[in-house]
Amino acid sequence: MRPWVVSRAGGTRSGGAGGPGSWLLEVGGSARNPTRLPCIEVLGGLPRQVFRVFRPRGSSRVQGSSDRLRPRRQQTYLKERRTMTTVLIIGATGQVGRVVVEEALAREATVRAQTRSASRARRRLPRGAEVVEASPSDVDALCPVLTGADAVVLTHGTDSDGRGGATFYDVVRAVIDALDALGQPTTHVSLMTTMNASHSATVTGYEFVEWKRRAERLLRASGLSYTIVRPGWFDYQGSGDRRIDLRQGDLVTGQPGVDRHHIAQVLLEGALNPSGSRRTVEVFSASGSPVTDFEALLAATRADEPGSLDGVLDTNNVALTEEPARVQEDVARLAGR
Ligand SMILES: NC(=O)c1ccc[n+]([C@@H]2O[C@H](COP(=O)([O-])OP(=O)(O)OC[C@H]3O[C@@H](n4cnc5c(N)ncnc54)[C@H](OP(=O)(O)O)[C@@H]3O)[C@@H](O)[C@H]2O)c1
Repeated sequence: MRPWVVSRAGGTRSGGAGGPGSWLLEVGGSARNPTRLPCIEVLGGLPRQVFRVFRPRGSSRVQGSSDRLRPRRQQTYLKERRTMTTVLIIGATGQVGRVVVEEALAREATVRAQTRSASRARRRLPRGAEVVEASPSDVDALCPVLTGADAVVLTHGTDSDGRGGATFYDVVRAVIDALDALGQPTTHVSLMTTMNASHSATVTGYEFVEWKRRAERLLRASGLSYTIVRPGWFDYQGSGDRRIDLRQGDLVTGQPGVDRHHIAQVLLEGALNPSGSRRTVEVFSASGSPVTDFEALLAATRADEPGSLDGVLDTNNVALTEEPARVQEDVARLAGR
């Protein structure tokens, strides 16, 4: 396929962001006589509807490959902090979920706290949260609780489900399908997995970690705005570790600790800030001052490559062909929408 090119109308090299229509997306024809489409929106000097863009050093042109364009379902890029009126928290009664509920309430969001048992959950959750009972792997049950949600945060722990942890994947799949059924493509999904999630069980020894990697891959294939948060060991941080330390590449080993508030903050701020989108980050706590500028924290990390199933700096990735057939089918189905 011919590479696509984005350039400014009239070939101008002037500075500034330009306005809608001042960028042209070349999507067909020949290099001499390309078919050009005006871009509808411009964000930070780049056309909003282009899925992946990069600007060669010293050039006003932006290039990419046409196989990375997603004409039907465009990735959402935020210009500014998102308004989070309503957030659904799945796994809200868990060690991390409870802290996400607290932190979301502190941000004055309407909090829907999902559980499989409302009576049990009400005893564990603050009164400000609306407890919603639903099976998290059931699309029909999720639709009403997801309706109108600006963000969904998943902190479910399903390692001991008697299925090797496959429920973890089923929940993420159901959330994606429910958002699709509802026609809510702009709902942000923040997903907690674990450090080492990118590796196969031959490295970690835990089958449930495989299902976390598969769930991450499904979310990346979904085209939704997402933040994937891989925490270190809960509560193993030192007493002075008040700073959030974000890493990428899934290279950290051992038992680095993380404050559960730090996990909750990155899950929520990933949904709120423009640079939280399409991120895969490992989260630890380190010595230093608490983070006050979450956009700056997230902007210092790299976004995942469009069209890639893996975190941007992950290495030694498991081939998709080595995943179970149903995972391959799900990824193909989502990527083909
Ligand atoms: N411990 C660590 O240091 C550490 C580090 C990194 C990552 N992790 C990962 O974090 C997760 C645990 O987090 P956590 O301790 O906050 O969670 P958790 O307390 O184990 O579970 C969170 C909630 O998930 C729901 N849940 C549990 N089993 C389920 C099932 N089979 N189907 C549907 N929902 C289910 C439960 O909610 P209801 O009963 O209310 O429905 C539960 O309260 C694990 O997956 C673990 O791999 C842990």
